[in-house]
Amino acid sequence: MKVGIDLIHFATSDYFLGMDTFAQEKGIDVNKYYVGIGQEKMSIAPPDEDIVSLAAKAVEPILQAIDRNEITAVLFATETGIDQSKSAGVFLHKLLNLPSRCRMIELKHACYAGAAGLQMATAMVKANTKEKILVIAADIAKYDQNSSGEATQGCGAVGMLITENPRILEIEAGSGYFTDDVMDFWRPNHRNTALVDGKYSTKVYLNSLKQTWDHFTEQTGRVFDDIDYFCYHIPFTKMAEKAHQTLMRKVGSKLEKAHADAKTLPSQIYNRIVGNSYSASLFVGFISLLDNVKDQLDNKRVSFFSYGSGCVAEFFTGVIQPGYEKVLMTESHQQQIDEREELDYQTYVQFYYQTDYAQPNLTLEHFNKGAFRFSGIEDDKRQYSKQA
Ligand code: HMG
Repeated sequence: MKVGIDLIHFATSDYFLGMDTFAQEKGIDVNKYYVGIGQEKMSIAPPDEDIVSLAAKAVEPILQAIDRNEITAVLFATETGIDQSKSAGVFLHKLLNLPSRCRMIELKHACYAGAAGLQMATAMVKANTKEKILVIAADIAKYDQNSSGEATQGCGAVGMLITENPRILEIEAGSGYFTDDVMDFWRPNHRNTALVDGKYSTKVYLNSLKQTWDHFTEQTGRVFDDIDYFCYHIPFTKMAEKAHQTLMRKVGSKLEKAHADAKTLPSQIYNRIVGNSYSASLFVGFISLLDNVKDQLDNKRVSFFSYGSGCVAEFFTGVIQPGYEKVLMTESHQQQIDEREELDYQTYVQFYYQTDYAQPNLTLEHFNKGAFRFSGIEDDKRQYSKQA
């Protein structure tokens, strides 16, 4: 039985900050960003955009393509939680008019939870083929101003419909996984921004890749040359390049640079101009691959390396299904990216400091241009609106 991704769509915010503006303001050579970390732009969420409005924007086109009453569960992965008890998916449930016979749960482990959701949903559909599960990964990456991480912010959400006989990707059985209790990146409950030991985090990421690769090959018997395209978790695109070089060295691959690039660069195109979207980032990379490789991808095997700081990682593969191109939502992705409004530095700082959300009543100024909006807080209850 084949199970996997039947439909996939992503959303990002309506604004971005160019790394040229960022570099100029900080008095740093822009090539540190363009070349050194491989980022050109970062999507910035305005005060009236959060993970729920981003997730709604990501998922609505999927729901319009199916009967939304058939959704049996929503697994919502995020590390930008909006409530300590109620799951973000329940806010979404009302906003998207999902059926009451549907389960909602929020999943968390840094950037890893989206991959965890995908594996869990796949197992649930294998156990009962009546299940049609929405996996959502949505995050807003935010670091302290003037910290090393500030240049690697971004935001985005990915919605994936997991069913039997999927039209886009069959998830293959067997994966390699790895956990280690490390403090490379974390966000204590009292903070809005993550703390990071940046250079250390890149080392832990690469070690986790090697560990998951060893486990993956033991579990599946597959080798490096069995994989046609590689998707890595992308905090910044240079990290994915370093990951691929590390893997090539580990397996002793003699592949020429142009060949290696063809297997990895298409999955970095969107991330380079969207920035880090934590749990969504790996899947934004997969969408970038699907939308940007012009050759036919039928039956091509794609690998996925998910890394969540702290840390948990997993390496697994999937096979692209014949006819996949008929159900891609490429136009919507490209339109959203192209139509974003560029921020000047001052407005970025205004958005950054945003509003004090820690108040029982709040009306938010209108910046979000999408159909779904976080409009404010009433009696400590978050309010969302949908434009007709
Ligand atoms: P930094 O100290 O700002 O940068 O931090 P740097 O001085 O190390 O420079 C970066 C690169 O640019 C270097 O290249 C420089 O040589 C080069 P490398 O040695 O790495 O090959 N460079 C230049 N190149 C061309 N022209 C120039 C120039 N100047 C310098 N003029 C760091 C970099 C990654 C530490 C920082 O961005 C950071 O702290 N980021 C946040 C943490 C992060 O993204 N970690 C990645 C792994 S952990 C992860 O992926 C999980 C995560 O997504 C969270 C989650 O799981 O939830 C973060």
